[in-house]
Amino acid sequence: MLEIKNLHARIAEDGTEIIRGLDLTVKAGEVAAIMGPNGSGKSTLSYVLAGREDYEVTEGDILYNGESILDLDPAERSARGIFLAFQYPMEIPGVATMEFLKVAINAQRRARGEPELKVPDLIKKVREASGSLDMDMAMLKRPLNVGFSGGEKKRAEILQMKLLEPKLCVLDETDSGLDIDALKIVADGVNALRSPDRAFVVITHYQRLLEHIVPDTVHVLSRGRIVKSGDKSLALELERGGYAGIVGEAA
Ligand SMILES: Nc1ncnc2c1ncn2[C@@H]1O[C@H](COP(=O)(O)OP(=O)(O)O)[C@@H](O)[C@H]1O
Ligand SMILES: [Mg+2]
Repeated sequence: MLEIKNLHARIAEDGTEIIRGLDLTVKAGEVAAIMGPNGSGKSTLSYVLAGREDYEVTEGDILYNGESILDLDPAERSARGIFLAFQYPMEIPGVATMEFLKVAINAQRRARGEPELKVPDLIKKVREASGSLDMDMAMLKRPLNVGFSGGEKKRAEILQMKLLEPKLCVLDETDSGLDIDALKIVADGVNALRSPDRAFVVITHYQRLLEHIVPDTVHVLSRGRIVKSGDKSLALELERGGYAGIVGEAA
């Protein structure tokens, strides 16, 4: 489903190369965990997958279902079923969460040539999706992410993911500050959406999240490259020995 080949990417503004020859393959139905020390390029990878303009790909390719997505803008990538949840979710003052969801869902439906959802249908859909998230519907009237607690941001993120029904989900999870409740929200959301035709890339610094989301594959990122891949036991190995051993091995 996702094939990243010899990817090199740099910060557009100053040309600093952050992703330096990254290879990664994620098959449909898989949950791939990307782990790595702070500053190894995990968040940058998520931005490059999203197609953010402040990063430039200088070499290599990103294939999604066999086709390069490098020329697609973020909205086109989203319309094709790629969903990104960032480490620092954007706050959108002045736009109620419900309104944001409506715009996001309908932009995607338009791009797919489907009719827009009418408000009553939208509300019904949102109500259904939020039910299992233990979410207060009043929250949907508040501007997206503005003043949301960590747990509320995670609920809003998983709600968006459920509503957009993406095929490839990339989640960049905060290295710290995510309490056990927020962690559970993300894990339950991901686990509920796992399916043979959907893939997840879960980016995380700590093994903790992976106790709740059991990955099929684990990849260690260091200085912009995947330096080691394995199964879930690799995450446990990292938890015990830290990154130093593995990152040192590759250097
Ligand atoms: N826009 C930017 N401007 C300057 N440096 C950046 C920018 N984006 C990323 N970096 C640098 O790139 C490296 C990788 O960052 P990041 O992808 O956030 O790592 P991680 O998420 O693994 O902690 C860090 O050294 C960071 O300081
Ligand atoms: Mg990060």
